[in-house]
Parts: sequence; C-alpha cells; structure tokens
Amino acid sequence: MSESRAEVVRVSAFPPFTTAKLESLFTVHDYHSAADKTAFFRGPAAAARAVVATAPDSVNSALMHSLPGLEIVSCFAVGVDFVDLATARQRGVVVTNTPEVLTDCVADLGMGLLLAISRRIVEGDGYVRAGRWPREGDIHLSSALRGKTVGIVGFGRIGKQLARRAEAFGMRIAYHGRSEQPDVDATYCASPAELAAAADYLVLCCPGGAETRHMIDRSVLDALGPRGFLVNVARGSVVDTDSLIAALADSAIAGAALDVFEDEPNVPAPLLGFDNVIVQPHHASGTLETRTAMGELMIENLVRHFAGEPVLTPVD
Ligand code: DGY
Repeated sequence: MSESRAEVVRVSAFPPFTTAKLESLFTVHDYHSAADKTAFFRGPAAAARAVVATAPDSVNSALMHSLPGLEIVSCFAVGVDFVDLATARQRGVVVTNTPEVLTDCVADLGMGLLLAISRRIVEGDGYVRAGRWPREGDIHLSSALRGKTVGIVGFGRIGKQLARRAEAFGMRIAYHGRSEQPDVDATYCASPAELAAAADYLVLCCPGGAETRHMIDRSVLDALGPRGFLVNVARGSVVDTDSLIAALADSAIAGAALDVFEDEPNVPAPLLGFDNVIVQPHHASGTLETRTAMGELMIENLVRHFAGEPVLTPVD
C-alpha cells in the first residue's frame, strides 16, 4: 500500500516547473487562486501540514491558525518578512527559506540598476525610441561610477556580493548594518543617515520587517543629497515611499532605481512620472537558473521535514 502524500497549501504562484514538482510529490491545495479564501480552509486543505509561499503573499497568524496540523512553512525567498514568525515560533512551526542560491542574481540586478540609473541607460533607450536623438542631439551627461562611494545597507551575503561587483567598477565601499563586522574591507557607518552622507549611491540589501520599516526616510534621503542615487533590491517597506516621492519632486536626490515596493504589485503613480526613476517588477532573483534552484530548495526542505530529517535552511 502506498504511503499517503503530505498535504500542502500553496499560497503563492510559482514557476510552472516548481509547481509541477510540488504536485508530483505532495497533495497541493491551491489557496493562491481559490475564489473563496474563507471557505478554502473549511475544505480538504484544513488537513495540510505545510504551507509554501513567497513575498508579498502573507502567511499571517490567521492563515496559520486555520491549519491546526501545520508543521512547516517552506518559503520560496530569502526574506521571510511575509511570514508571522512570532506565531510560527509559538506554534512550533518550522520556517525555511532559500538563501545562497539567489545571492548572485540579486547582487547582479542591484549592480545593474546602479549602473542603469547612473548612466541613464533606460532613459537613453526611451530617448532613442522616441526619435529625440536626431531632433535634440545628445542626451544629458550621466554620472561615472569610478571613484564614487556605494553605501550598502545590509552587509550580508547579498550586500557583500554587491560590494564585489562595485569594487570591479572602481568604487569605494561603505556599509551600515546591525553591527560593525570584523575583517571586512569597507567603511562602517553607525546609522543609515551617516552612510547616506558618505555615499554617492545608497543600495538597500537588508531584510524587510518591523526592524527596518521606513528606515530610509526624508532625513536619510536629504543626507544622500542632490547628487546621490537610491537603489532598492531589499523590500519596499524599508523606504518611506511618500518621503521618496517628495524628495524626488524636490530634486533632493538625483534618482532612484527600485525593484521592490510597499504595496506590490501596485506602484504609486507619481513614481512613474519621474525620468530619473527606474522601476522593476520585483525580479532580482528572477532568472531561470535561480528560480529553479529556489524551487528545488523549497521542495527539498519539505521532503526532508516529512522524512523526519533536518531541513536544509531553517530560519532562526
Ligand atoms: C527574496 O528571496 O526575498 C526575494 O525578494 C523574493 O521575494
């Protein structure tokens, strides 16, 4: 007799190859596309022992309490700010994430955005397509990277890889994080404002959540100054969006390149009105290679959990 398959609630949409593998191993209940989210938990999904999800879909306390047999929340993300970790801890629910496998791609997009906003790459593309080059001549001069300082907020795996890429462009590195790190060849700044004042580019690579919510406010943007650029590949919640829009309107900073937003997938209309803003659809980890690896790791954590083995990447 075959063993019964574990029941899993899928809160988010995943790439088709990840969903196919998940469905080949488990009985998957699709909360993501369920028309009636309340009735969903009165049906067979109530027997689920696992939840799989990614940002920005919330795995909140109510959702967890709807699943009395919940044992594990396996995330398809490194940042787990969309999971109520306090409830998980209280309930003894294991939470896992997908670190390491996405580090390079997120750092690549961060560096790409820094380069693109500084060298007007997206603006230049629009300029040519709109037929402005023959009519108006050269586009405005852009800003060189060599010799400039990149200030990295969050000097973990992604922040450090971003630093390596920036060094290859001849940039100096400064950082802010919870504490100064020994043995790193970069200048530590004790506050985001101090870092912003020292930086030409402020790049956000830190976790989201209550601790970093609106850490980048008007005072930090003013410290970055009219020649400074903001790049965000962390979480939208780290930036006070209203302050960012006001700072852009006042030319208090030079520009911003954003992969993440406070209310994804909605992007505030005023941001789209600035030529010196680049917006992206939260896809820093969105390469075929990285998303494949994230799916494999998310599923491997489930497989190990249900086999009674230690999961590979628990969130502390
Ligand atoms: C992550 O891994 O945290 C990405 O931002 C996807 O949400």
